[in-house]
Amino acid sequence: MATTVLPAAAFAHGGTASADRDDASMRARVDALLARMTLEEKIGQMTQLNVGVVAAGSAEQRPGRVTLDLAKLREALVTRHVGSIINVLDAALPAEGWHALVAQIQDVAMNETRLGVPVLYGIDFVHGANYTQNGTIFPHNVAMGATFDVALARRAGEITGAEALASALPWNFAPVLDVGRQPLWPRFYETFGEDPLVAARLGSAFLAGSQAAGVAGTMKHYLGYGAPRTGRDRTPPALTEREVREVILPPFRAAVAAGARTVMVNSGEIDGVPVHASRRWLTDVLRGELGFDGVIVTDWEDIIFLHTRHRVAATMKDAVRIALDAGVDMSMTPHDYGFADELLALVREGTMSERRVDESVRRILMLKAEVGLLDQPYPDASLAAQIGTPASRAVARQAARDAVTLLKNDAATAGGAPVLPLATGARVLVTGPAAHSLTALNGGWTYTWQGTEGWRFPEGVPSLLEAIRTHSPNVRHVGNSDARAAFADPTDAEIAAAVAAAQEVDVAIVALGETGYAEWIGDIGDLTLSRAQLRLAESVQATGVPTVLVLLEGRPRLVREVVPGAAAVVMGYWPGMEGAAAIAEVLFGAANPSGRLPFTYPKWPNAITTYDHKFTETLDTGFLREAGGFDPEFEFGHGLSYTTFSYGDLVVDHDAVAQDALLRGGRVTITVAVTNTGARAGKESVLLFTRQQYAAITPPVRRLRGFEKIELAPGASRTVRFTLGGDDLSYVGHDGRPVLELGAFDVMVGGLTHTFQVT
Ligand code: BGC
Repeated sequence: MATTVLPAAAFAHGGTASADRDDASMRARVDALLARMTLEEKIGQMTQLNVGVVAAGSAEQRPGRVTLDLAKLREALVTRHVGSIINVLDAALPAEGWHALVAQIQDVAMNETRLGVPVLYGIDFVHGANYTQNGTIFPHNVAMGATFDVALARRAGEITGAEALASALPWNFAPVLDVGRQPLWPRFYETFGEDPLVAARLGSAFLAGSQAAGVAGTMKHYLGYGAPRTGRDRTPPALTEREVREVILPPFRAAVAAGARTVMVNSGEIDGVPVHASRRWLTDVLRGELGFDGVIVTDWEDIIFLHTRHRVAATMKDAVRIALDAGVDMSMTPHDYGFADELLALVREGTMSERRVDESVRRILMLKAEVGLLDQPYPDASLAAQIGTPASRAVARQAARDAVTLLKNDAATAGGAPVLPLATGARVLVTGPAAHSLTALNGGWTYTWQGTEGWRFPEGVPSLLEAIRTHSPNVRHVGNSDARAAFADPTDAEIAAAVAAAQEVDVAIVALGETGYAEWIGDIGDLTLSRAQLRLAESVQATGVPTVLVLLEGRPRLVREVVPGAAAVVMGYWPGMEGAAAIAEVLFGAANPSGRLPFTYPKWPNAITTYDHKFTETLDTGFLREAGGFDPEFEFGHGLSYTTFSYGDLVVDHDAVAQDALLRGGRVTITVAVTNTGARAGKESVLLFTRQQYAAITPPVRRLRGFEKIELAPGASRTVRFTLGGDDLSYVGHDGRPVLELGAFDVMVGGLTHTFQVT
């Protein structure tokens, strides 16, 4: 698709004074600064510490403020010349708390260090301003993926970037560009789903948006994190190198083209080589092939782990040498000065050249210049008013609304007519552990790392139950009474009470799912939803009342026992602070759902298969002991609406196109007419897939090659146009280069197929 690669973002500089300076003068300034630095000062710039190292204790001591230990801060900045600090201490701060913290750090950096180089503060705003109190909280990326809306991702990036900057945090460790190929993985929800094109387009749009707002974005985690064989965090991927290039690299390529300023390295390995140790991936491919010229930062403790976990370095010193040789610029150390000590020793003894150190420090200083820090290191208090504005929340609401995915709305199960949308004022039972839980709406990385402390969330955020109550006065609730309490499975008594209450209502809404988790803390050995939650749904269904399942979860937990008996299934993902209101709007028909699954929802624990699988992965010979074929719970791209759309006139402008022409940049144009054939306005994600019928390397059954989200009034039609180039029709060969073969290609849109030839 022509749109895969967004135009390079005009990287806006944060400080007003630097905004009109050109790159060359910035470079000259950086070179002059670098020339004055001692080796120790340079190495300090390459060192990144966790804020806990310089804090006096827990944030609880003084709510809303972090108390710094001045002696520790001086040791870090004055003695050790540290250039970057990251993270929250325990929990989200109000904007004023961030301003006070950053101002105190910059005071020491500016006034007490020899050269007065400001500190670059980094943060994980991975679904909006999740570490600033009352910041705008967006749905997690996997839900953003369900919107298939590139413009919305860009808006989310702009708002998140602006709120980071308004919090005095000019470096955001987002977006996650890993492709979610393994739903057990506890970071699945941080991805835009299982497809590389969706991650490339939405991820680079988010990145460009946040950088346009003035912060530096981070492509993470480069490369090969999102497909762990075991499903556990930071374990090796089940991918060949060729597949890494085919499926995992494209979002990073797109984000580099969109102007990404920094990248964070994957803590894992590719084919036995930890990525932090790989000169080929970090330097040859990322810098050489993709053209990345920004800062490469490690992930948490990952140089140490080359020695202690990966065991490719016999000593810490060797780990530092390997990482620097691979291309790392900055070490997220982040607890001690081991990295700095070893690097100093390596340069002193002549193993590492000072020129190599200079290369990294130049990039780091350029980054500081680009975000405006060299001119304006201090927080701008007036920006705090930009955080969590009604307008920004409205965008988060829109994102949540457009993410909600109606997976089932079955007339037969509901006794004749689809159960959704519910009539205003319908008598409803609301139950299930996710029904009245703020953590089940927000997931990990919300106010705290794990996102499990709902009591910290702002007042006035409705749970799903509360949002439903705004649409019907006839709501009965069975379950926990405190939406901010810890998430817990239903007890036997609750299940019995729900069954009793179900007899007295028109419909039961059973909200199931997960509370927050992040990284390895969220590792699980079984994708199946907890027995108690399944039993609650089964028991309510057994009463005969039409049941709507609402799923609030970071990954597709298996629910096959309770899908057949459900009249409707609504996937909410982790939709964020505006999510409950958005889901309630969909349940009662105030909003028409338009989300589509950005991944394949599995039905069986050991049949994890992506939509772009090989033909052999889903063969059904007819002689199998179990049902063969492709049998997911719900397919990639699935999602219903309250209106209907029809597709017609699929036209490919060439029946045959010359391979030569494609290689020289020629494109094939495809058009398809989409009509809203129902009675209400609706949005539709038009998804275009291709399939190479025969290829030298076994072709996948289909690949997503384009998508566009459109909105149509009842009866309205629109012709949607896509173009495909050689890149879209080629695959990666064993030498890592694209192969465009002759032969037949199918184009598939909305149930229509058209075949053309490459000749
Ligand atoms: C995570 C990163 C994150 C970093 C800093 C690491 O553990 O893997 O995604 O940016 O911590 O908080």
